[in-house]
Amino acid sequence: MKNYYYSIPLSIVLLSVLFTSVAQATPWKDLSSEALEATLVKKFAAGKYSPKGADSCLMCHRKSEKVMAIFDGVHGLRSNNQSPMAGLQCEACHGPQGNHNKGGKEPMISFASDSKLSANAQNTVCQGCHNDAQQMAWHSSTHNLEEIACSDCHQVHSANDPVMDKLKVNDTCISCHSQEKADMNKRSSHPLKWDQMTCIDCHAPHGSMNEAALTKPTINDSCYSCHAEKRGPFLWEHSPVTEDCITCHNPHGSVNDDLLNQRAPQLCQQCHANDGHASRVVPEPGMDAFGGGKSCLNCHGQIHGSNHPSGSLLQR
Ligand code: HEC
Ligand code: HEC
Ligand code: HEC
Ligand code: HEC
Ligand code: HEC
Ligand code: HEC
Ligand code: HEC
Ligand code: HEC
Ligand code: HEC
Ligand code: HEC
Repeated sequence: MKNYYYSIPLSIVLLSVLFTSVAQATPWKDLSSEALEATLVKKFAAGKYSPKGADSCLMCHRKSEKVMAIFDGVHGLRSNNQSPMAGLQCEACHGPQGNHNKGGKEPMISFASDSKLSANAQNTVCQGCHNDAQQMAWHSSTHNLEEIACSDCHQVHSANDPVMDKLKVNDTCISCHSQEKADMNKRSSHPLKWDQMTCIDCHAPHGSMNEAALTKPTINDSCYSCHAEKRGPFLWEHSPVTEDCITCHNPHGSVNDDLLNQRAPQLCQQCHANDGHASRVVPEPGMDAFGGGKSCLNCHGQIHGSNHPSGSLLQR
């Protein structure tokens, strides 16, 4: 963790380069995002922190249960010497009070979805203290590029941040990811809807160097971490399996059995022509082995590979 006393001024310098004009007289609720950021930059430069710290803020804000809840969470602990409460207190995140306490003339840094500040400006505050190895991938992550704010996922005015809770993290993710929300509620899915599994079993929430922000280097490595028996090696491999599990499966869910993107025979016929199959025979009366039941899998059941000496056709 880096010392935030140094990093906040750095963010001001960056912001000052971008904004020069100031609209001091305008009430801050009506300011444009640009004018608001410019005002905050000025306020930072003046650096008028309240000598009373949180007490000053609480004169006006203590009636809000939401505000007071910060004292139930890690950011409200005075015992940790890296904590906001051990330093600038509320102003460590919301910036110097300046004239905010005088008739509401000046704005404070605000967070979350109703903030007019850019995600980057908000995030710089958090990153002033949270700049460790786990945050390294954030910079190039899709979430950062899509201007997602730390506080879109995290709640700091709270005893327990829901996104840090294994039983609640999925709710935060699917509040934005409607496609995955729909998929995980389909007939066949990983047990995501029961919260027995989470999005972050496979994905790194702060990004990673891997495709789709996966925690493992490849898609197949992700799957093998729980389905080790599919790794092989097999005497007879089925090449699409060793290449990429999601050629046939949707990791988030599907209307077909076994998370399959398509049902057999269509699934198989993307790559194998049905025509010319020499054994187009009906093994039992009344049952077409090609179309009925598990279709191609009636005979080629070892679809992920076979270790049987005569399993080259993935039949045993
Ligand atoms: C004299 C009273 C007063 C004091 C002292 C005060 N505030 Fe405020 N604050 C207000 C008012 C009024 C609002 C506007 C509330 C609204 O419109 O919802 C406000 C709004 C805010 C907002 C929301 C800003 C936004 O853009 O929505 C934050 C954050 C905030 N104050 C933080 C602080 C902090 C931190 C301190 C102490 C450094 C502090 N306030 C001290 C009166 C005060
Ligand atoms: C660790 C950074 C941090 C600290 C310290 C902090 N806040 Fe906040 N504050 C936030 C974030 C982030 C939000 C957006 C809501 C959330 O994430 O819980 C917020 C929201 C607010 C709001 C708007 C609340 C609303 O109803 O929408 C006010 C007012 C506020 N804080 C005041 C304070 C006061 C007063 C203190 C000190 C007692 C304080 N904050 C300390 C980060 C912080
Ligand atoms: C002044 C420094 C400081 C700032 C600014 C700050 N944090 Fe923290 N944060 C801490 C400390 C200290 C901890 C406790 C870490 C520990 O115990 O290892 C913490 C812990 C956390 C945790 C882990 C919470 C948990 O329950 O374990 C999250 C998530 C977090 N911060 C998010 C944020 C976000 C989001 C912001 C910006 C809105 C922010 N922090 C701003 C100092 C800060
Ligand atoms: C997409 C949602 C999301 C966003 C955006 C996000 N986080 Fe997190 N964060 C999480 C989740 C989920 C965890 C819990 C990780 C775990 O349990 O392995 C976490 C954990 C943390 C922790 C606890 C320690 C750690 O690294 O595991 C800190 C600190 C933290 N986040 C800070 C931040 C900061 C700072 C930002 C913005 C730059 C941010 N987060 C953006 C979801 C998010
Ligand atoms: C505030 C909205 C929001 C939240 C909350 C959110 N995301 Fe995202 N996420 C996005 C956007 C926007 C994109 C880019 C468009 C897309 O791929 O859907 C994205 C992209 C992604 C991607 C694709 C990454 C890539 O590099 O291709 C993954 C994986 C992802 N999010 C996982 C998560 C997980 C896991 C969580 C919960 C911990 C989460 N998201 C929470 C908005 C959000
Ligand atoms: C079993 C592992 C696994 C779990 C659990 C999982 N994902 Fe994924 N996710 C993947 C894989 C693998 C990909 C890459 C798919 C691809 O490239 O088409 C992916 C891709 C994504 C993408 C990018 C989609 C795109 O079209 O680019 C998003 C967004 C996403 N996941 C969100 C989520 C969310 C939200 C959850 C929790 C509800 C979740 N994932 C749970 C494995 C998983
Ligand atoms: C974190 C562990 C974990 C990871 C990673 C994982 N799975 Fe699973 N998978 C499970 C669990 C648990 C089940 C449910 C088993 C059950 O209900 O009997 C399951 C079930 C399945 C099923 C059967 C679904 C059904 O409807 O019965 C398929 C197919 C599957 N996983 C494919 C994959 C693929 C492909 C990947 C990689 C993208 C993957 N899994 C990654 C844990 C995981
Ligand atoms: C060529 C298409 C294809 C590919 C590629 C594929 N699978 Fe499958 N998978 C299937 C089919 C078809 C079934 C249903 C099997 C059945 O009904 O007997 C299945 C079933 C499963 C099941 C549930 C039943 C069981 O056998 O445990 C898991 C788990 C699974 N696959 C994991 C994986 C993993 C992990 C990978 C990547 C290493 C992968 N699959 C690649 C076609 C495929
Ligand atoms: C993404 C393309 C793809 C899909 C989808 C696919 N396969 Fe294959 N399959 C291959 C390739 C490539 C080989 C290796 C062919 C070779 O070596 O000549 C193969 C080999 C086989 C073999 C061994 C016979 C041989 O010629 O080596 C059988 C049997 C087989 N596949 C059945 C199936 C069945 C059943 C399905 C559907 C569940 C399926 N395949 C889905 C690409 C695919
Ligand atoms: C009734 C059992 C049965 C069913 C159902 C079946 N196969 Fe076969 N398959 C065989 C037998 C036996 C062979 C080897 C003899 C031959 O070539 O006819 C074979 C050979 C193959 C081969 C390798 C030879 C070639 O033709 O290239 C592939 C690929 C294959 N099957 C794919 C499929 C696909 C795809 C389906 C579903 C559309 C399917 N099979 C359905 C029994 C079956």
